[in-house]
Amino acid sequence: MSNNSITIKEIKQSSSSVDIIWNDNKKSFFHFLWLRDNCPSNIHPDARQRRFNLLTVSESIHPKKIILNNDGKLEIVWSEGNHISYYDSKWLRDHCYTMKNNTKYQSPYILWDQSLSKNIHKNMIEYDEILNTESGLLKWLEQLHIYGFSIVKNSPTEIKSALNILKKISHLRETFFKTPFEVINIPKPNNTAYTAEGLRNHTDLPYFEYAPGYQFLHCLANSTKGGESSVVDGFCIAKYLKENEPEIFSLLINTHVKFKDNDYTQNTIRIYHSPLITLNKDNDFNDIRFSVATMAAIDCSDKIMEKFYLAYRRFAELIHSDNYTVNFKLSPGDIFSFNNRRVLHGRKEYDPNSGNRHLQGYYIDRDEILGRLNFLKNIVV
Ligand code: OGA
Ligand code: ZN
Repeated sequence: MSNNSITIKEIKQSSSSVDIIWNDNKKSFFHFLWLRDNCPSNIHPDARQRRFNLLTVSESIHPKKIILNNDGKLEIVWSEGNHISYYDSKWLRDHCYTMKNNTKYQSPYILWDQSLSKNIHKNMIEYDEILNTESGLLKWLEQLHIYGFSIVKNSPTEIKSALNILKKISHLRETFFKTPFEVINIPKPNNTAYTAEGLRNHTDLPYFEYAPGYQFLHCLANSTKGGESSVVDGFCIAKYLKENEPEIFSLLINTHVKFKDNDYTQNTIRIYHSPLITLNKDNDFNDIRFSVATMAAIDCSDKIMEKFYLAYRRFAELIHSDNYTVNFKLSPGDIFSFNNRRVLHGRKEYDPNSGNRHLQGYYIDRDEILGRLNFLKNIVV
């Protein structure tokens, strides 16, 4: 039954909540302060923000009278403030926290290992489809959110042309590397990405409290010998460790590791401590930070340093194992797009004299991907 055809069958008042039995016999308990706080009369119509001040009612506010009115709305006459609230029953059902908290959490993520290589085309999308259709944009955002990885094919190769589709998502995340950042081999680089050296699998910029959420590497030229790309699902490795090597997992989620950036071009010293794996409120994976290049000298307690190093080494081993790595070579017109706080990326060294290699990089925060996806899917808030 969809929530559109759900109706209220029975209403009771208990000492602290209004208890509803629905026509599918499910139950909801709505507490008095929660109900009063969520009275729809005091939401700004354009900003869609709450204006109500909870401090204008007492802690013991309660309904004097409750009825299901002729419009099918729950009508509550409050004990104070001379106020009546009218709640749409569909809104109540959609926001029922009793059922929500009785339902097992379902992760939105599909985790993957090297076997994704066989079906890598499923994680690809045409540039024109994103540019010209909303369904294309939605498909791209879903690949990014669910798999954390997508390759946009057949983009133009003019400089900054990736902006045409990135702007369809939202604004970009600016960093001191500038937007876009030019991934080319230069003398006196301020990042090892700007050399022809290989880069082991890593996440970018883990020394920021808020590391960039998504990264987009737009390939303009890649004719050099070498320079193949790699991509690894950090959440998949985290899940393996959680289920099979729990002591190592525990060290990785509990030990704060120091990351730093102090390249010679800047008058800043950036330092941030974070575990290599963090979890969210549902105990799902929140983010992965892993970058040999920007890890500072670790300063956790001497009581755990040895154990931590063994766990870190094990994590690094899995991150570079063939079982988890998907390898490919970017072609001009590809935009390698990924969740920088889940997926690790790397590249093989290349011979700068054998051809031309030029990527333009962009970041967009995770909030922007998710917020746009929620809007396109018209999710209930
Ligand atoms: C980067 C990076 C990969 C590449 O710029 O952050 O990892 O293929 N580049 O050059
Ligand atoms: Zn990188």
